[in-house]
Amino acid sequence: MSDFLGKGWAVFAPEPAVRDWATHALVGARRALKDPDLARWYQCEETWFVGLDAMQNDACGAVAGSAPLSGAAVDFIAAHCGGWPALHKGQLSGVFPGYPRPRAGETEAGFRYRRNRDAAHVDGVLGVGTPKRRFVQEPHAFILGLPLTQAAPDAAPLVVWEGSHLVMQRAFAQAYSGLDAGHLAEVDVTDAYQAARREVFETCTRTQVHGPPGSAYVVHRLALHGVAPWSRTAEAAPEGRLIVYFRPPMPGGVRAWIDAA
Ligand SMILES: [Fe+2]
Repeated sequence: MSDFLGKGWAVFAPEPAVRDWATHALVGARRALKDPDLARWYQCEETWFVGLDAMQNDACGAVAGSAPLSGAAVDFIAAHCGGWPALHKGQLSGVFPGYPRPRAGETEAGFRYRRNRDAAHVDGVLGVGTPKRRFVQEPHAFILGLPLTQAAPDAAPLVVWEGSHLVMQRAFAQAYSGLDAGHLAEVDVTDAYQAARREVFETCTRTQVHGPPGSAYVVHRLALHGVAPWSRTAEAAPEGRLIVYFRPPMPGGVRAWIDAA
């Protein structure tokens, strides 16, 4: 636990129950990748499948005939991340050789940020308007990642800046200090967020988070994270690098998102 609170992420070693879940989920994932109704999720010249709500799991995480999702990561979240909630439909994040290519409508600076900075972001901090201003509007309780395929560690892995959640927590606490808890989602946090991100890039170690099917990652809700480029020589299963993510909403909203451990 202290490790998670210091680093902002943890990888749980492969275990049979999670491996079994991932085997079933892969069947559902293959279906989703071919579903014409979900074709809009192919982005960046088909090198990325965004896959929001693409998994057809139930509230216990059961999918394509699997048992409910269980294991050490689930137990950890239940004990340390505010309890184990009913689950939304999982995000199927698929990345394929050649990532990143420019996303439709992306500026040159945006693409550079994707290629050189892994499109690093904190979940829930949404950009609104042009030029973009930032607001915390979809605060999540945690990020749980479940790899479905074998992929090399440099096949577009999840990257997390170690300790970045502490920098973000400080920055947001300051931006919101003295403000009414009911209106925090309307507070423009652009400047505080950008300054905190700069501090993270200068002071925190960028870490590749990787594991085979059967393992699980938990990322702190405030951690700066992104997706690294697919390195030229990296190999992966034919389906690509597939990870299912669960990011349930934070009970207590923005105030709790800042204040909880
Ligand atoms: Fe994210």
